[in-house]
Amino acid sequence: VAPKGGGKLAFKAIAPVPRTVDAVTVPEGYDWATIIRWGDPLFNNTAQFDINAQTEKRQAGQFGYNNDYLNIIVDKYSGRSGVLVANHEYTNEDLMFEPAWFAANKAEAAKIAMAAHGFSVVEVKRVKSGTPWSYVRGGERNRRITATTPFAVDGPAAGSDLLKTVADPEGRTVLGTLNNCAGGTTPWGTVLSGEENFNQYFRGTGSASDARYGLSDVATERGWEDVDPRFSAHNPGYENEINRFGWIVEIDPQNPTSTPVKHTALGRFKHEGANVRIADDGRVVAYSGDDERFDYVYKFVSKAKYRRGDRKHNMTLLSEGNLYVAKFSGNSPAAQIDGSAAVPTDGAFDGSGSWIPLVKDGASMVPGMSVEEVLVYTRLAGDKVGATKMDRPEDVEPNPVTGKLYIALTNNTQRDTTGKATVDEANPRTKNRDGHVIELTERNNDATATEFAWNILLVAGDPSKDESTYFSGYPKDKVSPISCPDNLAFDSKGNLWISTDGQPGTIGYCDALHKVTLTGAERGRVEQFLAVPAGAETCGPLIHDRDGSVFVAVQHPGENGTFQDPTSFFPDYVLSPSKAKRGEVYGPRPSVVQVFSSTKGN
Ligand code: FEO
Ligand code: CA
Ligand code: CA
Ligand code: CA
Repeated sequence: VAPKGGGKLAFKAIAPVPRTVDAVTVPEGYDWATIIRWGDPLFNNTAQFDINAQTEKRQAGQFGYNNDYLNIIVDKYSGRSGVLVANHEYTNEDLMFEPAWFAANKAEAAKIAMAAHGFSVVEVKRVKSGTPWSYVRGGERNRRITATTPFAVDGPAAGSDLLKTVADPEGRTVLGTLNNCAGGTTPWGTVLSGEENFNQYFRGTGSASDARYGLSDVATERGWEDVDPRFSAHNPGYENEINRFGWIVEIDPQNPTSTPVKHTALGRFKHEGANVRIADDGRVVAYSGDDERFDYVYKFVSKAKYRRGDRKHNMTLLSEGNLYVAKFSGNSPAAQIDGSAAVPTDGAFDGSGSWIPLVKDGASMVPGMSVEEVLVYTRLAGDKVGATKMDRPEDVEPNPVTGKLYIALTNNTQRDTTGKATVDEANPRTKNRDGHVIELTERNNDATATEFAWNILLVAGDPSKDESTYFSGYPKDKVSPISCPDNLAFDSKGNLWISTDGQPGTIGYCDALHKVTLTGAERGRVEQFLAVPAGAETCGPLIHDRDGSVFVAVQHPGENGTFQDPTSFFPDYVLSPSKAKRGEVYGPRPSVVQVFSSTKGN
């Protein structure tokens, strides 16, 4: 008999999967199938995917590359239709293009890659609840958003001189979104996504603010600056183009002609994503992490209040409000926080903290910086107010059942080794290879509070080999090994699900999806649900436990291989979708996978 899971998702944890295994591994009693793959046509007039005949035009009508954030928003009236929303973080040119063709066609390849970024919105349908979904080619809501789609800029920095370019002298319209990593679906049904490592697309000037955002004055690996002048800050009139990325974007997946928005009120940094909770007084709170070693956790509190059913109004909520950054304080003797991650004598890594205002009631709270400067150079503002330097904040997500906030800190091998920051109680491990997860409780469970309590839920790693692991006291011999927590999700019972990015390089196993029990005697119990194929990262997890379904975005399968020497043939495991000639073999395609009970499949 399988142990109890969230809702109808009973399962027995799978064993961790060695990192070279090129398979989706699911628990006994479950099966998996793809819903959509890189290159699948979204529109009736889009050509079928052919690895040998890819063009910018084709790609702009096909599902993009490297799906990361994922949601399936089910139409309430039927339960048998809905929209799948995924973003496409980046491209792996080494896997997408045969090397000789790529070398001879750099400009066309760059344009294909730009069209493979952004978002896909695609309708899905199923026979009945609990059966697998299939995507609808030509669905009315189908849409591609790419690196060239117009976005409206809103919030206090819209129209700022810091955002103006020769192509957009008003500073209010940006072409495209880049490096969209995690995300969240708002209570009003729109999708938020974070523009994360945007620096890699731009050649900077070497200024101090550039450096703080990881921009350098060297040619980029992608070479997009050779195709479009806006990708180099050296080109006159495009000095500010780099300031137009690094935002939270909001798209309306129900309206394919709507203009997507970049929200400057939430600040500019390497946003992993954003997730919204409605406070008791109706204001909405958006939490977001800045995924960089020694960077910060933020929250935004809207000025206006949520109105149930008023979608138009609710889509303005992220345009105006207060922005805060987190400062964590520990309550154990400092000497006991020695970098070993040994639990201090008070029994927990825990303490209190505060949300330090950066922008409040329309005014800057940061000495020497205007509101516009705080929002465009938010990292510099966080530095000035003494925010806590974290071990790479990835997903920061409130539990919809309890309101508690969970912060995935994926790893930081430079903790205590480069002079940037020593250990502290919230980041207690020197050279933190495997990461940890913090649980944060707002004062009085009020999402708008400026003070909070926190504790570490788990210190990740392989407990059979690593004494510094910690699972809230749950027996270490009964948990699945876990490393590099990245995306978070919850099931309908409030269990936490964690997907990983980097386990192959740390504990030697394929990246995975784990369920973590948060309450009762089994608090801290980690159970592995699935593993993704060789070279892939587990993204997007979506837990529809009432349907007995789990969905993951399998990102960058085979990333450790090349076009001609693939390490993965996921998901079709055939030589080629079109008998590739240029490269002779063809390997992986990033895809959205659904996992369902094998007794229900059709
Ligand atoms: Fe794109 Fe922070 O992971
Ligand atoms: Ca403590
Ligand atoms: Ca991520
Ligand atoms: Ca990551």
